[in-house]
Amino acid sequence: MLSLSARPILLPKPRLRRLLLPRPLSAATASALTPPTPRTPTTAAPADPTPLFLRPPTHPVPPAALEAFRRRAAALVPPSAPHLHRHLRWFLADASTPDHLLRAPLDELEALWLAHVRDRRPFQYVVGNEHWGGLVVAVRDGVLIPRPETEAVLDMVRAVQGFEGGWWADLGTGSGAIAVAVARMLGPHGRVFATDVSEVAVQVARLNVQRYGLQDKVEIRHGSWFEPLEEVKGKLMGVISNPPYIPTGDLPGLQPEVGWHEPKLALDGGKDGLDHLLHICEGLSSALKPGGFFVFETNGNKQSEFLVDFISTKWSSSFRNVEAVLDFADIKRFVRGYRR
Ligand SMILES: C[S@@+](CC[C@H](N)C(=O)[O-])C[C@H]1O[C@@H](n2cnc3c(N)ncnc32)[C@H](O)[C@@H]1O
Repeated sequence: MLSLSARPILLPKPRLRRLLLPRPLSAATASALTPPTPRTPTTAAPADPTPLFLRPPTHPVPPAALEAFRRRAAALVPPSAPHLHRHLRWFLADASTPDHLLRAPLDELEALWLAHVRDRRPFQYVVGNEHWGGLVVAVRDGVLIPRPETEAVLDMVRAVQGFEGGWWADLGTGSGAIAVAVARMLGPHGRVFATDVSEVAVQVARLNVQRYGLQDKVEIRHGSWFEPLEEVKGKLMGVISNPPYIPTGDLPGLQPEVGWHEPKLALDGGKDGLDHLLHICEGLSSALKPGGFFVFETNGNKQSEFLVDFISTKWSSSFRNVEAVLDFADIKRFVRGYRR
């Protein structure tokens, strides 16, 4: 059972610095950057699925024992990975309080740290959150860690005339990051309907919606793409999606943090990565109201160029202003447009 916190947590200062640092886990850019080592991960998912940062600090620890742990943990960091010292500082800041209480027993913290250093389990799964779009998004195994490049969809939504009062869909919501961030931008009549086929994603997305007190604005629905949205079809002001888009053949080349630990369901886009993107395109015109906006994330230039051409040619009478949008690395990461 995930524990719920009524209000968003305050950010401890050390964690704010994470925003300023490059984050190395982008699935979107991860294709074959780091060859996987032949070793397979040995980390089992933790028995308690509550994200570490949301657990109450109930485990007293003598300061000397915590310091001894810090030294042992630091000694595990190879010289080639100085960023892990930073992670260790953040880990300790998240896991302990100034009055010497821990959010998990020390032996569990040891195991979590070992999994990060040895098995390359993403730091976000270790502490249970990612800082994204001005939010602290709870994440856990089985849910994609939201990526910084995806934050650009928030600006695109904000640029749509009258967006505040519209009904929006976030397809493949994962942690619910997009749904929660968009809902926070909406006025009293705006709503977000978010879908995901993964039960874990639905649980975590609902947790994040509750943590931000947005139950009256966001509905998380279990099911495939547009299927759970029958009754809002034709009424949506916008459809947003960051679907799985990595070609199946590229999955073995992903960084171990991604390929070993993040859900295949969130990554695998089929043979050329376009299976889900094309399915979503097919459903757009019946889902959107006239003048409605859509944006989805892609694997990069090749997919975006193909989709702009495909939509503009096949459905020229249904859509206008279809174009690719660059991410902060000047890659055509998004495709957006409007229903006529
Ligand atoms: C790349 S992740 C994006 C997650 C989140 N929107 C984000 O940007 O962090 C893709 C999401 O699509 C979901 N998904 C995969 N197949 C789906 C389907 N048929 N219907 C709905 N969601 C699906 C996955 O479970 C995963 O959460």
